[in-house]
Amino acid sequence: MKSKRLNAIADLINKNYSFTDIGCDHGYLAMIVRESGNRNLIICSDDKIGPLNNARRNLENYDNILFVLSDGAKEIKKQTDIAVLAGLGFQTVRKIISESLAYFRKCKKIIIQVNQNVDLLRRWLLENEFKIVDEMIILEYKYYEILVVENGKTELSEEQIIFGPYLLKEKSKAFRDYYHKQIKKINLIINKLNPEHPDRIKLEEKLLKIRKMLKD
Ligand SMILES: C[S@@+](CC[C@H](N)C(=O)[O-])C[C@H]1O[C@@H](n2cnc3c(N)ncnc32)[C@H](O)[C@@H]1O
Repeated sequence: MKSKRLNAIADLINKNYSFTDIGCDHGYLAMIVRESGNRNLIICSDDKIGPLNNARRNLENYDNILFVLSDGAKEIKKQTDIAVLAGLGFQTVRKIISESLAYFRKCKKIIIQVNQNVDLLRRWLLENEFKIVDEMIILEYKYYEILVVENGKTELSEEQIIFGPYLLKEKSKAFRDYYHKQIKKINLIINKLNPEHPDRIKLEEKLLKIRKMLKD
């Protein structure tokens, strides 16, 4: 499976751990994990029957996989070591975790990749006693941030919430490239706004934060 994003997520799933893929869609993550030699239980779950049946079809040659039609984790009866929530929006992830908090509290790890609003996700995790234990950023047509989360309290500065504690520490090439592109994008928007526009100040503040972070 040639998805850099899904391969990166699969690499975070320990060979000795079982996992649940919430919002599995095609089931490709399960396929990559199985092909990598992990023989533990996999639960593929989706809230729509079409995608779940696609996963079922794509994974018919693999065993020890359960398919569960479920909104979030509501109908998932078996616990696994890891839960994956990938390719979903922040609001959906927040809703799914909040509605099945006991389930997620029992996971050893939660791997989360939201398409936008990663800063809002970090703040929400912090406020709800989930701590980030690893992060990565990858480029596959667009940039994706992947968070590895465990239960527990932690403290994060405002800068760490915005940019990510681990991403900030590493400042990898992908991370710096992403923010250089963001600077260009924000400048283009600012140049189109008239000087009185209310968004202008917010965008200029954002630019300052990014520039400062890249310099430090
Ligand atoms: C964009 S796909 C992502 C598929 C895969 N996780 C990935 O990262 O490539 C999102 C999938 O999540 C499912 N989904 C959306 N909301 C959901 C929910 N509340 N519970 C379970 N699945 C959900 C959708 O039906 C869809 O199959």
